[in-house]
Amino acid sequence: MDAAELKGKFAEAFGYDEGIRIFFAPGRVNFIGEHTDYNGGYVLPAALTFGTWAAASTREDGIYRFRSTNFDTKVESDVSEMIYKKEDDWANYPKGVLRELIQLAGPENSKHYHGADILYHGNIPNGAGLSSSASIELVTGLALSKLAGIDIPMIELVKLAQRAENHFVGVNCGIMDQFAVGMGKEGQAMALKCDTLEYDYMPVKIDGYKLVITNTNKQRGLADSKYNVRRRECEQGLEMIKTVIPHVKSLGDVSFEVWEKVRHVIKDPVIGRRVEHVIMENERVLAAMRVLERNDLNEFGALMIQKHESLRDLYEVTGAELDTLFDEASKVEGCIGTCMTGAGFGGCTVSLVKDDEVDTFKERVAEKYTAKTGLVPTFYICEIGDGATEKLKEEKQSRF
Ligand code: GLA
Repeated sequence: MDAAELKGKFAEAFGYDEGIRIFFAPGRVNFIGEHTDYNGGYVLPAALTFGTWAAASTREDGIYRFRSTNFDTKVESDVSEMIYKKEDDWANYPKGVLRELIQLAGPENSKHYHGADILYHGNIPNGAGLSSSASIELVTGLALSKLAGIDIPMIELVKLAQRAENHFVGVNCGIMDQFAVGMGKEGQAMALKCDTLEYDYMPVKIDGYKLVITNTNKQRGLADSKYNVRRRECEQGLEMIKTVIPHVKSLGDVSFEVWEKVRHVIKDPVIGRRVEHVIMENERVLAAMRVLERNDLNEFGALMIQKHESLRDLYEVTGAELDTLFDEASKVEGCIGTCMTGAGFGGCTVSLVKDDEVDTFKERVAEKYTAKTGLVPTFYICEIGDGATEKLKEEKQSRF
């Protein structure tokens, strides 16, 4: 697909081809800093070159029509009826974003949201932990606000998309995915402190290596409820720490030294493990930032490995499939780092693999993984791309 073909599909779907604008938002991968975002800690994600495209055109009758080349469900709603409906399936993401856009505009400006037709096309595997939902949220926020003639700073769209996911879709995620998808930059990771939203871009120079994403292709099932259980365990851990240091606002503010002094207040071993992961993972992001600055890829890879082990042993969000990928990837010579990425319980790993070992990596990992789990993995070579943007005519258009 390219921009011209997407416009063609739009014309097929909606029966006209005037006034179509094209927008894009990527997926994301997270290197280090897993399950730290909702604990006010650091994360180190990057935007991918694959993502969600949206062809969109404005209407005057207050109707929003949402279609996708990836899903059959078609949804049509009046602007005054942006309510969650189970049968609307994927279209609840754009509906939730539109409701937030209208709220942000307030009574004065909400009249600018007077309808649109929007056709999505995505190439992020769904439910694989690469933020296909944040991608659709951000591309919608950008497209519908631009069509309404309202300029919203990207960081506000990021926060608005998270609100839509939390309040409309009902997933209690942190800010990392929406931030990475909105604010990404080609060739750069983002070191973000999730409570203050202070951030820095950090070049990822991996000459001689490739970033390989491996999808477990496991259906995730109960992931969301387990995610919420982890959040609660962290909140309980924080409350216990507050009994000795009352001014601490989040686990992300507890250094390893402080943790060593206060860990005795957490008597429950499960909660102790969860908190230990968050605190050590936060330290790992800080270490990864230093390592990236001196471009020490071996050390970066070592941190990825420690991250996975911690998510497996302390946070317990990996599971047999991700652990098998991790074990098999670690055995391949030329793979200097590998870990799960995203929420876990299925989804993907990301690995740093020497250029000339990539084929061997794929073969060996696939063979062993299938033998052990009965599932066939999918591999993607990933490039770090830009955040959400309008695709303007004068830019060279790529295929997607
Ligand atoms: C999901 C959530 C994020 C973050 C990660 C785990 O991707 O959407 O907010 O919590 O899991 O790091």
